[in-house]
Amino acid sequence: MNEKANRKTDVFESDSPLVLGIESTCDETAAAVVKGTQLLSNVVASSMDEHAIYGGVIPEIASRAHAQALVPVVSKALAEANVDLSDLDAIAVSAGPGLAGCLVAGVSGAKALAWAANKPLYGVNHVIGHFAVTQLQFGQFPENTLALIVSGGHTSLLQVRDIARDISAVGSTLDDAAGECFDKIARLLGFPYPGGPFIDRYAKLGNPAAFKVPKGLTQGRTAAAHPYDFSFSGVKTSVARFVESLKAEGREIPVEDVCASLADSVAQVLSEKTIRAAKNLDAKTVVVGGGFSANSQLRQALSQAGEKNGINVRIPEVKLCTDNGAMIAVLGASLAKSGIKPSPIDFRTDSSMSLEQIVM
Ligand code: KG4
Ligand code: ZN
Repeated sequence: MNEKANRKTDVFESDSPLVLGIESTCDETAAAVVKGTQLLSNVVASSMDEHAIYGGVIPEIASRAHAQALVPVVSKALAEANVDLSDLDAIAVSAGPGLAGCLVAGVSGAKALAWAANKPLYGVNHVIGHFAVTQLQFGQFPENTLALIVSGGHTSLLQVRDIARDISAVGSTLDDAAGECFDKIARLLGFPYPGGPFIDRYAKLGNPAAFKVPKGLTQGRTAAAHPYDFSFSGVKTSVARFVESLKAEGREIPVEDVCASLADSVAQVLSEKTIRAAKNLDAKTVVVGGGFSANSQLRQALSQAGEKNGINVRIPEVKLCTDNGAMIAVLGASLAKSGIKPSPIDFRTDSSMSLEQIVM
């Protein structure tokens, strides 16, 4: 098997490689085709409805859904792009971080396709894909770009010197991710999983100054010790206590005002710390990625802060914020274009893949 696969692991170079991207890290089975930074198709199937009654993603259900959806989703993505497997320059697949069984479903499928079609395969970092996707709208990254990652499991700042070769961690959450914090509070407020989008929607109807929500690591000595780190567990505890005390007293919960105060506070912290890091690291461009970048309050706060400080802020259009195949395909195309060697055919999935590792 290795002999045939190895024939295509030579360094590959093209200005606009045609790449199929496959994504299966959580509950979305997705595939897309790009030509360089041009999106030709983008197909997403979700098993979210099957998890909603449990209040969170059940890995076994998600893995089975990936196994069932992968072939139809990939076929549709190729058909909509009007290309055949044999036309592709490369295939890219999320190799981590993510749910172990889900990753295996996507990676096994991608390996089978790459083997059958004799194409180079890149096992790429899902989280890096989340901001690599901004290239579809805004073009390539300037040499020194700062990335804010706000996905369900991560809230991190990364310095991107070269999207294909050099990414280093600047800061991270010390406890919960912003998305996780929203999902937990949403559950207390009675919203279905994932609750982030509901908080966003209700926040638009409330008063952001109604309640004081703690801003972790923004004051005094802890702020000085952790200038680019985040902490959202205090936010979660404070809002949860408030909601539970109202419930215990049988009082009505002012849902809109709670959502507005929470969303405003989190958006301010994320945007203030991101802009400060960009200034200190001399990055003139900030890219944002991950499901939470769909959040209206964060989009507004970051865009305003960027304008005020002369920093170019690139946030993906909402449909490319949550998990999709386009982000994986674009990252694969960046790697192929830069002449990065494809992954060996026996590469493993890594459910806790480091955010500094771009490709397997
Ligand atoms: O990146 P993603 O799709 O999955 C991971 O790779 O983790 O992110 C999912 C997260 C969830 O926590 C979800 O509640 C949050 O993104 N999210 C939002 C919004 N849309 C998705 N949070 C706040 N406002 C939104 N509009
Ligand atoms: Zn994601």
